[in-house]
Amino acid sequence: MIPAVLPTYNRAPLEFIKGEGSWLIEADGRRFLDLGAGIAVNALGHAHPALVAALTEQAGALWHVSNLYRIPQQEALARKLVDLTFADTVFFTNSGTESCELAVKMARKHFAETDPARSVIFTFEGAFHGRSSAGIAAAGSPKMTEGFGPLLPGFAHFPWGDIDAMEAAIDETTAAILVEPIQGEGGIRPLPEADLKRLRALCDSHGILLILDEVQCGMGRTGRLFAHEWAGITPDIMMVAKGIGGGFPLGAVLATESAAAQMTAGTHGSTYGGNPLACAVGCAVIDHVADPAFLDAVNRKAGLLRQKLEGLIAAHPDVFDGVRGSGLMLGLTCRLPNTDVLAAGYDAELITVPAAGNVLRLLPPLTISEDEIAEAVTRLDRAATNLRATAA
Ligand SMILES: Cc1ncc(COP(=O)(O)O)c(C=O)c1O
Repeated sequence: MIPAVLPTYNRAPLEFIKGEGSWLIEADGRRFLDLGAGIAVNALGHAHPALVAALTEQAGALWHVSNLYRIPQQEALARKLVDLTFADTVFFTNSGTESCELAVKMARKHFAETDPARSVIFTFEGAFHGRSSAGIAAAGSPKMTEGFGPLLPGFAHFPWGDIDAMEAAIDETTAAILVEPIQGEGGIRPLPEADLKRLRALCDSHGILLILDEVQCGMGRTGRLFAHEWAGITPDIMMVAKGIGGGFPLGAVLATESAAAQMTAGTHGSTYGGNPLACAVGCAVIDHVADPAFLDAVNRKAGLLRQKLEGLIAAHPDVFDGVRGSGLMLGLTCRLPNTDVLAAGYDAELITVPAAGNVLRLLPPLTISEDEIAEAVTRLDRAATNLRATAA
């Protein structure tokens, strides 16, 4: 019999009843160190007092009001994002998938009147942009698309990092290039800064749009507010979600005035997008994450974690192969099946997240302490030692 909850997830037998900072707690009191953060969502950890205060204060005043009316919390958050980034304008969504939907619509609408043949969006193999019809068509992998056809047309897929192939394929039908600066689900694969610069230059020289998906790598995760800042480039359109709500469902599409100019009244909308609760929390999140001292701390802690992971890999060369990624978005490439390492981590009361390419993702809350980083690596060491004992 089909379960009451549609069984589309492979769930671990873990059930948390409370979160505190970097910790998730089960009913029996077992405390798990959380290096998953809800897959890069709980940027400020669990139950951060500033976020609890922002949410409860707003909850006592006004939960929801339609976008038929002005929403001051939404205007405040948009203003902060515009002041802090390349963007001139922001649309709020409830998730990364919805941000993808709008990014695709916006790119096509941008050319609809002046150059209507331009509708095709280029993406890299291994991409993940969400599970909607546009999201799976953008990713294009059989794993995501099989059985869900007919797929939304107008996407072209290229081997990961093959910018030569993209360049050769640009023609009068190309509208945009859509990439994650660091692929998350695809296995923590960072695009080198030089590649991001080259993509920007390609888009400029062909008059097409660069769309960056920073749903997973944005909001301070790499030690800059957004990952593309490391490359010194800016996109035309950017998808954001996950960390921006710190655990409250919130997403956004940021865009330049030029890219967004055709998105006039009536072209897009959302009942909940930019809701007062979500935006009150979003304002509190960004006030913390955009603070240069906070980002400095992320970079410091990222250096410490990486250094300790190098030691872990050296101690367990038969379990781990290497580490890649940026900031507090790191991936351990595994020699044993990543699902076995994940399960051994659960036994050591440590949460990590699997990804493609036999990778174990480490995406801790950005507020993780140095002591907690040391404890996390101790637990990873314990997990690896136990695995080797079992394998022997
Ligand atoms: C890069 C990226 N884009 C889009 C999404 C989809 O976001 P959501 O699950 O919030 O719809 C994800 C989710 O993992 C993601 O990592």
